[in-house]
Amino acid sequence: MSIIVAGDFVPKADVKPYDPFSDEIKDLFRESEYVMINLETPLTERGKPILKTGKNFRRSPKYAEILKNAGVDCVCLANNHIRDYGNEGVLDTIRFCKEAGLDAVGAGFNSEDAAKPLIKELGSVKVAILNYCEREFSIAEKNQAGANPFDLIDAYHNIQDLRSKVHKIIVIYHGGIEYQHYPTPEMVRYSRFMIDIGVDSVVAHHAHAYSGYECYKGKMIYNGLGNLVSSTSVRKPDESWFVGIAAKLSIMPNSSESELITLNQALDFSKVSVASQELRTRVEDHICEINKTISDPILFASYWDNKYSAYRQTLYRQLLIPIPSLRKVVKKTGIQLRMPIRYRIEVLNLFRCDAHRNKAISLLKPDV
Ligand SMILES: [Fe+2]
Repeated sequence: MSIIVAGDFVPKADVKPYDPFSDEIKDLFRESEYVMINLETPLTERGKPILKTGKNFRRSPKYAEILKNAGVDCVCLANNHIRDYGNEGVLDTIRFCKEAGLDAVGAGFNSEDAAKPLIKELGSVKVAILNYCEREFSIAEKNQAGANPFDLIDAYHNIQDLRSKVHKIIVIYHGGIEYQHYPTPEMVRYSRFMIDIGVDSVVAHHAHAYSGYECYKGKMIYNGLGNLVSSTSVRKPDESWFVGIAAKLSIMPNSSESELITLNQALDFSKVSVASQELRTRVEDHICEINKTISDPILFASYWDNKYSAYRQTLYRQLLIPIPSLRKVVKKTGIQLRMPIRYRIEVLNLFRCDAHRNKAISLLKPDV
């Protein structure tokens, strides 16, 4: 008995709704007891684009049936796009998916509803699925529909509450840094902690790049699945954009077996298939390298130190130049910006100290 978890689904825009799943993918999905994907777009024809960073996605409600017919059982909605078209988008998506016979987890009409776990009886095994995302512009609030934001204390209580009620707990975590094959150090800590407190598997997505995995205390953590079908990119996509992985997790009692399936999107996003043997070998070799780095604390820390210093000028431009078009001009000139030290430590204190961070967030939120 197994569950398949696959990554981001955002089919092409501006074309008639189409079925991108190859027959072999459908066979794989049908052989598994339960199939979950990340629906990285609302399915709606209503609503207005919300104010946010990044693009606003919206796709046809017909995709709910296309997914169901392909053998998908559940859509994970805790992601950074589910609120792109406001409350209407979130609520339509849940409604259309339910009407098509799909389960939905990770979003709701308010934060309490969004946090509800999905509990499934698969044969004789009772499985709980918790779906969280990082706090971007999609999250549900007390009076606002949206996604279930990750909060370590809430997650602890959710997991403790479920532990005696089900046989298996699976956490689906949507977070990390886009285009990166490595999870953030925080994600690794959170995933391991969730295993420590009783979760059976943690599976992450969001980066649009596949990542590594580890067997921690006998339980599987997949740090990033990459894309399932993802037609939209802010950069010119490289080969890895078209490669995703699906995690096939055993849900048999006392088993933590799992299998990795490599997937390959067509360059025009019209189809997703199982990868060729040659591509699979290349991806598996790359994943081995990623795994080695994540498992070595010194290598892993130095990977992120180097990345963060490469981001430095981008961050300076964001913090020092409020007008995006001017930022582009400054980037073109190659001028290296610096932050005056006094200003730098003030900003540091706003980000780093919990109390000041929350104060700053309450000021910056557009609805306040
Ligand atoms: Fe995402």
